[in-house]
This record gives sequence, C-alpha cells and structure tokens, in this order.
Amino acid sequence: MTLSPSDISFHLLLFLILILHHLPPSSAAGGHWSLLLPAIGITAMHMQLLPNDRLVIFDRTDFGASNISLADGKCRTDQNDMALKLDCTAHSVEYDVSANSIRPLTVLTDVWCSAGSLAPDGSLVQTGGFNDGDHVVRVYRSCDKCDWQEIPFGLIQRRWYATSHILPDGRQIIIGGRRQFNYEFYPKRSSSEKARSLPFLVQTYDQQIENNLYPFVFLHTDGNLFIFANNRAILFDYSMNQVLKTYPQVPGGDPRNYPSTGSAVLLPLRIVQGIVAVVEVMVCGGAPKGAHLNAKNGKFDGALNTCGRIKISDPNPEWVMESMPMGRVMGDMLLLPNGDVLLINGGSSGTAGWENGRDPVLEPVIYKLNYPIGSRFEVQNPSTVPRMYHSTAVLVRDGRVLVGGSNPHECYNFTNVLYPTELSLEAFSPSYLDPTANGLRPKILSTMTRIQYGKKVVIQFTVQDQLDRNSVSVTMVSPSFNTHSFSMNQRLLVLEGSNGTKVVGRLKYEVGVTAPPSGEIAPTGYYLLFVVHQDIPSEGVWIHVE
Ligand SMILES: *[C@@H]1O[C@H](CO)[C@@H](O)[C@H](O)[C@H]1NC(C)=O
Ligand SMILES: *[C@@H]1O[C@H](CO)[C@@H](O)[C@H](O)[C@H]1NC(C)=O
Ligand SMILES: *[C@@H]1O[C@H](CO)[C@@H](O)[C@H](O)[C@H]1NC(C)=O
Repeated sequence: MTLSPSDISFHLLLFLILILHHLPPSSAAGGHWSLLLPAIGITAMHMQLLPNDRLVIFDRTDFGASNISLADGKCRTDQNDMALKLDCTAHSVEYDVSANSIRPLTVLTDVWCSAGSLAPDGSLVQTGGFNDGDHVVRVYRSCDKCDWQEIPFGLIQRRWYATSHILPDGRQIIIGGRRQFNYEFYPKRSSSEKARSLPFLVQTYDQQIENNLYPFVFLHTDGNLFIFANNRAILFDYSMNQVLKTYPQVPGGDPRNYPSTGSAVLLPLRIVQGIVAVVEVMVCGGAPKGAHLNAKNGKFDGALNTCGRIKISDPNPEWVMESMPMGRVMGDMLLLPNGDVLLINGGSSGTAGWENGRDPVLEPVIYKLNYPIGSRFEVQNPSTVPRMYHSTAVLVRDGRVLVGGSNPHECYNFTNVLYPTELSLEAFSPSYLDPTANGLRPKILSTMTRIQYGKKVVIQFTVQDQLDRNSVSVTMVSPSFNTHSFSMNQRLLVLEGSNGTKVVGRLKYEVGVTAPPSGEIAPTGYYLLFVVHQDIPSEGVWIHVE
C-alpha cells in the first residue's frame, strides 16, 4: 500500500492529536511531594503558621476520641459535648516545622468550622465554632509550654462558618456565619459595641443551600473590604456600614462559596511610587448551581473549571474568565513567594460537606500570573492522598506548602468509608525548591526583624550563580488562617525597589526597597520576607511591620 502525501499529513495530524490528547494540558509537570508524618493525631481542619515556625492545627471537639492523648493524662469534661462527656484526647496540636514533631494542645469548647487571624503580636486570635464554642474567642500564643486561652463571651453573635480579617488598626472583623447576616469586631472598643447588620449576606443567601458561608473577604488597599458571597461581591466601608460598590456577578452565575466551595486570592499587590495601582481578585472553581442537592441525592456534578479575575480598583470592573485544566471543588488557592498562585486539594465532582465530594484531584496546578492567557496553568505532580472536605494547606517559611486533613466522616471513621479520616501531614515542594535551582537561589544575610511603614530597607543576600540584577524582587507574604478552602488574611506585597541591586562583595549583593507605606496596604504584624531571583525565592525571614 502506498500513502499519498495527503494521507501522510492526515495520519501525522491524527498522531499529533492523539499525543496532544494524552499529554496533560501543560507538559511542565513539576514539584514533588513528601510525607512528613503519617499521623498527627487529629484531622487538620484549620491551620495557622505562627512567627516561630510552628503551625497551630485544630479540628473539632465533639467528634469522639482523636488519635492523640492530651498531655500529662489530662482529660476534658464537657456536659455539652455531643460525642464524649469525658474526653482524654486532644483536638488541637502544635506542629514544629523544623523538628517535624507535634505536641497536643487543649481546646475546651467546640472550635468546629471557625475562623481566625494572626494578631499584630503574633498570637492567633480564633473566633467562634459550634455548640458551646460558638460565642468563644480563643487565643493561642506559641511557646514550648503554651496552651489555648479561652474568652467565653468574646463574641456577641454565634459565629459558625464565618470569615475573619485583620484590619489596619490591629482588630479583626468577623463577618457572617450560619444564619448571621451581620458582622462584629474583636476586640471591642467598648462594652456597648454591637454587631452591625450586613444585608448583602441576606441577598446572597439561598434558604435551602446557603452557598454564602465563609465569604471571601479581602482588605482593599483603599481601606475598604471586598466581600464576595455566593456569586458576586461588594466593596464595603465597615466603619460607616455602607456598601460603596456592587461588582458584577461572575459570568455563569454559579455559586463559589460553601458548600459550593471554590477558593479565592487577592493577587500580588505591587507597590509603585507608594501606591498599589491595580488591586485584583481571582476566584477559582466551586460546584455548579444545584450540585449540593444533587450530591445529597447521590448525583455528583462535575466541578467548575473556571476562574474569574476582577480588578477591584477599576471604576467599572469586569470579570475576565479563564479555564483551569480541570474542574476543582474544595481546592485551596495559595500565593507562593514568587507571586505564582498554587491551586491544591479538593475533588472534581460533588460539593463540600461530609459525604458530598467525589473524584479527588491529586494534581496541584500552578497559575503563572504573567504568562500569556492560555498558557498560565501548569499541572504539577500528583500526591497519592485524597484531600477532600476539611483539608488544608499553608505556605511555610522555606517555601514548601504543608497539606493536611480530609475527613468527610463523623467520628473519625477509618473503616468501610470511601475516604477515610486522614491524619497525615504532607509537604508539596514547588519546582523552585528543586536542587537544580540552588545556584540561582538567593540567601538572605540581613538580620532585621522589624520594619517601619514607608522606611527604606537594605537587604543583603548571596547568589551562587551569575546574578541577573534585572530579575530581583522582594516580596512579603502574610501568614494566613486556612480552613474550608479559604486562606483568611492572605496577602502578598511586591516591594518597591529604592535603588536597585548592587554588588557588595564576592557573590554578595544588596537591594534597597521601601517598606509598605500604610496599614491599609499591609496591616501591622508579622510577614515572611523573601528575595526572589529569576522566579526562585530565598528562604523567608520573619519581619514585623509597624
Ligand atoms: C493512634 O493510632 C495508633 C495506630 O493505630 C494506635 O496504636 C494508638 O493507640 C492511637 N492512639 C490514640 C490515643 O488513640
Ligand atoms: C463508621 O464505621 C462503621 C464501621 O465500618 C460503620 O458501621 C458506621 O456506619 C460508620 N459511621 C459513620 C457515621 O460513618
Ligand atoms: C541604597 O539605599 C540604602 C539605604 O537608603 C543606602 O544605604 C545605599 O547606600 C544605597 N545604595 C546606592 C547604590 O545608592
């Protein structure tokens, strides 16, 4: 048989189509996974990195016995507990990143589906929960022997599935929660301070499915709050209790908040001449309209594969839509030190809530902000552990992302269930941590621990290979509170260079930058500062902005 040239090109085309079809949407698969601990004793439903490189982790207290005992044979008696009145196990642990070890902590009242923010002094101020814990504020200040402190009536309203955000004055605002169409602050300015109503949460509330819990909240650099619930957002002046702007609905109108559970980030804030000209939010994934009721009836709809970006600082902003390589519900979006966005965890069908998710998405995806549209998403190497409902992810100082949790079952059920209660802690190392990047990796030599608003900062660092002085930047990342696919207070600043990078010794350089100008751009408190060279970040150093 002889083939004509048109046959050959037809076969070649068919061959190419087949190959392309079998390749992941991007062939740049990278990153690697490692198992840190097979069991931390609890399921990591909520995680916060603290400025001493420890993670405080907690799940819920009314869930039966966990797999780790309280210290010194202690027990908790709680007549309100729905599973055990006498419980000698812990429901919170502290994880030491460098030692890779855990120690049990004691929470007394129920912290299930709660919120939190790192206070300016570096302690975690956690708010609400369920049952006897829904009005409680708890403070965790880390030290070798420290434990939780509880403030029984810290909150005016019950806060279950609420979102917290730190404010420029160091207080936090707590917004919403189940059947709470209002917000309040912690700490209060006076004992007469009341919760204030937020009708937007009524307008976006779906009686049957809710779909506006754990709203996505970001502090705009103009001092107002961007609040996204269900399928749209407002710009809100919390001090005047005034809606300043109503943003358009996300095209398609599908819900993005719990239990449709997509995720969202405030994209990197680039400071130029003392201001951030473009403030942009990105929302990705979730479950389509109707998916929650369908999942309860055993039909698991495919997750949304769309992301929307909106410049919230524009006078007439519009959503710009892009498609991810795959659908994702219950995914987490994290800002990496070099400004890339990591999408990790979750499933590709069903919704959030106990048994409602299916088809774990084991591959993280990295979104390259500055690549041309159509080539921004890079599929990464997969984990082997499904991370479904109640899974978490946080960035740590060395640039890894720690991943834990996943427990769609009541009472720590490990057997005869589809996705068993998951006690392991893993790390995902993006490809910037590959040893092949070590030559380009900056190492920070400066030892400053505090920087003041608007002041010049000089940072010394080394790079082993040739330095490209045009691709050095300095970023600052706030440690966020992660639960239910949202990282509260997540923020990345690209600092303004004051006088470029100069050589100060053999392989030794100095870069001058200006600290963020204000608390609206960077609320006071702890941040991780990174020097980034050709997209490869240094290890971070902790600094306090004040
Ligand atoms: C945790 O699990 C391990 C392994 O199954 C078991 O040996 C241990 O007794 C458990 N500890 C607690 C406190 O449940
Ligand atoms: C927990 O596991 C047991 C044993 O496999 C099973 O019978 C039970 O229904 C499970 N309970 C829940 C709430 O999933
Ligand atoms: C850069 O700025 C810092 C601090 O203002 C100063 O110490 C340093 O000498 C400056 N370098 C150059 C090259 O101007």
